[in-house]
Amino acid sequence: MDRIRIAGGRRLNGSIPISGAKNATLPLMIASLLTEETLVLENVPRLADVGLLQRILGNHGVDVMIGGKRPGETSYDGQTLHICAANIIDTTAPYELVSRMRASFWVIAPLLARMGEARVSMPGGCAIGTRPVDLLIMALERLGAAIEIDGGYVVARAGRGLKGGEIKFPKVTVGGTHTAIMAASLANGTTVIENAAREPEIKDVADCLNKMGAKIAGAGTSRIVIEGVARLGGARHRVIPDRIETGTYAMAVAMTGGDVVLENAQPELLQAALDVLIRAGVEVTPTNAGIRIARDGSGLAPVDVTTQPFPGFPTDLQAQLMALMTRGRGISHITETIFENRFMHVQELARLGARIALSGERATIEGVDRLKGAPVMATDLRASVSLVIAALAAEGETMVNRVYHLDRGFERLEDKLAGCGAAIERISA
Ligand code: UD1
Repeated sequence: MDRIRIAGGRRLNGSIPISGAKNATLPLMIASLLTEETLVLENVPRLADVGLLQRILGNHGVDVMIGGKRPGETSYDGQTLHICAANIIDTTAPYELVSRMRASFWVIAPLLARMGEARVSMPGGCAIGTRPVDLLIMALERLGAAIEIDGGYVVARAGRGLKGGEIKFPKVTVGGTHTAIMAASLANGTTVIENAAREPEIKDVADCLNKMGAKIAGAGTSRIVIEGVARLGGARHRVIPDRIETGTYAMAVAMTGGDVVLENAQPELLQAALDVLIRAGVEVTPTNAGIRIARDGSGLAPVDVTTQPFPGFPTDLQAQLMALMTRGRGISHITETIFENRFMHVQELARLGARIALSGERATIEGVDRLKGAPVMATDLRASVSLVIAALAAEGETMVNRVYHLDRGFERLEDKLAGCGAAIERISA
C-alpha cells in the first residue's frame, strides 16, 4: 500500500488548481441511468471513487468513455466522461461493489424509476459510524415503491411506475435528497420535498437533470418541487469545483503560513468555512482566478465551531479544522452534529503531539507550540487529509500510512502541495 512522507515546516506559496467536486460527480454519473441517451460530464476529477462507480455502472450495462486530451490541456484539467445507459442489462447492485462506496446505493432511484425495479445491497457500516438508508427508503415509498429487505438487499418495485408524492425528511440528508429528486424526475405527477438538503451538489445535479429535460424547481433551498416527465434525454454538464478540496487546501495554507491562490475555487460554495478561517486570522480574498489564502507569521486565534448541513460548516472539513486548531493560540471547540464517531483522527493527531479531549460529540483542542512528526495511519478520507495538514506544520518527518483513503477523494494531493513548496512525496508500495 502506498505511503506519503512529509517533512514539515515549509510555507506554502504559489497556486493550486481545484478539481471538480467528487460529491457532485458521483450522483451525476448515477443520474446517467435515467436516460437512454448520452450524458457528457466535464471537469470530472481523477479519483479512485470515480473509477469504482464506473465499474458499478458497468455492471448495470452502462458504457463509460473517457475523452482524450485536447491541445493546451494540462494534467490537472478534469476529464470528460461520456456515459451511455442505452441498455440496462442488470438492475442488481451487488454487495461486493456497494459495500466499497456508500453513494453507489443511490443507483436504486434511477433504476427503479426507469426500469420499475431495483435490487441494491444495503451498504453496511463504515469507519465513521452507522449510516442508515431508512430515509432513502422512506422517500421511495412515498413515491409509491413497494420495498422489501431480502438477504441484505433492498428490493424496490414499482410495476406501474412511480407516482409523485410528498416527502418530508425528518433530518437533512444529502443522499436522501439526491435519491428523491432522481426518482421523482421520472414519476407520474408532482413531488414536493420538504426539509431538502441545500448542498451545492444537490443544485448541481438538479441543474444537470433540468438540462436533460427534468422539471425541478427550488434545488438549493429546503423545498424542492418536481414535475415528473415521461422520459429524459442526454445533456452536457460541467461539474462544479470541489468545496471540500478548496477548504482543505485553505486550511493547509493557514497551517503552514504562506500565500496561495486556489484556482477555480468559488467562495460562495464554502462561505461558512472561509468565515471561520477569517475569524482565526487568515487572509481570504476572492480573486478572478479563484480564492487567495494568506497568513503571515502571526498565530491563529482559536475558534468554536459546530458542523451543520449546508450552508453551515461542513462535517467534511471538521477533521481538517481540528488539525489546524492544534496550533491555535488557546482552546478551540469543535462539535460534530452530523455523524457520530467521526473523530477517528483524534488519536492519530495525538501521536503528533496534539492535545485533544473528547466528550460525546464535542472536542476540546488545546493549541500547542509545536507538533512533532511521527508515523500515523489514515482511517477515512477526511481524517487522512487532516493528518497531512498537521504533518505539514510538524517538526521532522511524518509518514502517513494507508493512503488509499486519500486517493478516493483527493486528486494528486502530493503533487498539488509539492507544487507550492511542501516537502511531500508518495512512496509506492
Ligand atoms: C453526503 C456526502 C458526505 C457528507 C454527508 C454530509 C456524498 C457522496 N457524500 O453523504 O461526504 O459527509 O453528505 O454532508 O455526497 N441519515 C439517516 N438515514 C438515512 C440517511 C442519512 O439517519 O437514510 C443520517 C446520517 O446517518 C447522518 C445524516 O443523516 O447522520 C446526514 O447524512 P447524509 O446527508 O445522508 O450523508 P450522505 O448522503 O451519505
